[in-house]
Amino acid sequence: MTTQTGPLIQTQVPESFCNLATGQPSPRLLPMELLAYAASRRLRPDTDRLLLQYATCAGGEHFREGLAAFLTQEFQARVTADTLMISNGISGALAIIFGTFSGQNRLVVSEDPTYFLARDVFTSSGAEVVGVPVDAEGLQVEVLEHKLRHESLRPSMLYTIPTHQNPTSACMSEARRRRLIELAEEFNFLIIADEPYNFLAFNQEIIKPFAALDEGRGRVISLGSFSKLLGPALRLGWIHAAPHLIAKIAQHGVLSSGGGVNPVMAEIVLETLVDGSLSTHIKTLQQVLGTRRTVLVESLQKYIPEMQFVTPQGGYFLWAKLPEGIKALALWNTGQQHALSFMPGTRCALGGGHQDRARLSFSFYEADEIPERIQRFAKVIEAHRAQTT
Ligand SMILES: Cc1ncc(COP(=O)(O)O)c(C=O)c1O
Repeated sequence: MTTQTGPLIQTQVPESFCNLATGQPSPRLLPMELLAYAASRRLRPDTDRLLLQYATCAGGEHFREGLAAFLTQEFQARVTADTLMISNGISGALAIIFGTFSGQNRLVVSEDPTYFLARDVFTSSGAEVVGVPVDAEGLQVEVLEHKLRHESLRPSMLYTIPTHQNPTSACMSEARRRRLIELAEEFNFLIIADEPYNFLAFNQEIIKPFAALDEGRGRVISLGSFSKLLGPALRLGWIHAAPHLIAKIAQHGVLSSGGGVNPVMAEIVLETLVDGSLSTHIKTLQQVLGTRRTVLVESLQKYIPEMQFVTPQGGYFLWAKLPEGIKALALWNTGQQHALSFMPGTRCALGGGHQDRARLSFSFYEADEIPERIQRFAKVIEAHRAQTT
């Protein structure tokens, strides 16, 4: 096997360093064999050369039909090809959607805490992002409603991670989702639902995309991604929304100039949708990540019993309340002196909050590596206490 590291990847984690912040799949979860086989079937010397031509803006019909069949089967809910288009991952979709729909109104409401890099995508596009708190049932819709009704909040978009949220792992209840759509209709904003973790559910039913509740109203755009299913380097995902919204997004200048995004990779991935190999791989991911989650929970209970958290039912992350009196950023600094890192809650905050929180990832280390790493974390907490008292 040839392993290339170094400049190839964004986040390097040396063997000696313990990085509990990394929200990436561990190397074992990146299915090179599956993709190599799919590529060898799809890209051959006698393959239609037009596969290398500029493609259609929304993605090839063949790919969209195959994706629709795959999503229908996995979600057990009908998804049709005219409600889907290809995207350059969720990150690319966010920029294109903001560019398409924000117009003069650059205000985006987001959950707080949230996926810190999505906030950066919005601000890089010139947005102002304001936060609404999250609890165990997801975004606190009644707080949003108060701001809309009584504080003249008028966003063009609301950004949410409704399922296995990053970082809290909360899943928004169906009642809140329905209420949010009503508010979007009344106050005229779009709901952008970032949903990369829906399939990574442990011992529970897979939650359907938020867009499945939209019923043609054109208020919800769900974003899916192959990053956490096959690999982030594919830069491939999908946008799921009412056909008239899809038609509008597909007119974005980047797509008409570029001929859609990533059509060759889409055709390769299509092979894995059609032959069932992605469905099988998803089952492996659920099992492996579910075990890692359980080991992380047990290790925290054993080595840092004062840490409080809700056990995640899916996704990549556990959102922990640090032991009394410890501030996340100060602890993070101590961690650096001991070759250990985690995501301080403040990094996921929209305005300086969550100082008593840490986001711990269970996607990156194998189950048998986790207990030792949590022991190291417990020692960092001890060292931090010794330094600060
Ligand atoms: C909530 C969320 N959205 C989007 C992304 C990035 O998705 P993509 O690789 O499809 O751009 C991540 C990656 O960690 C994420 O956690």
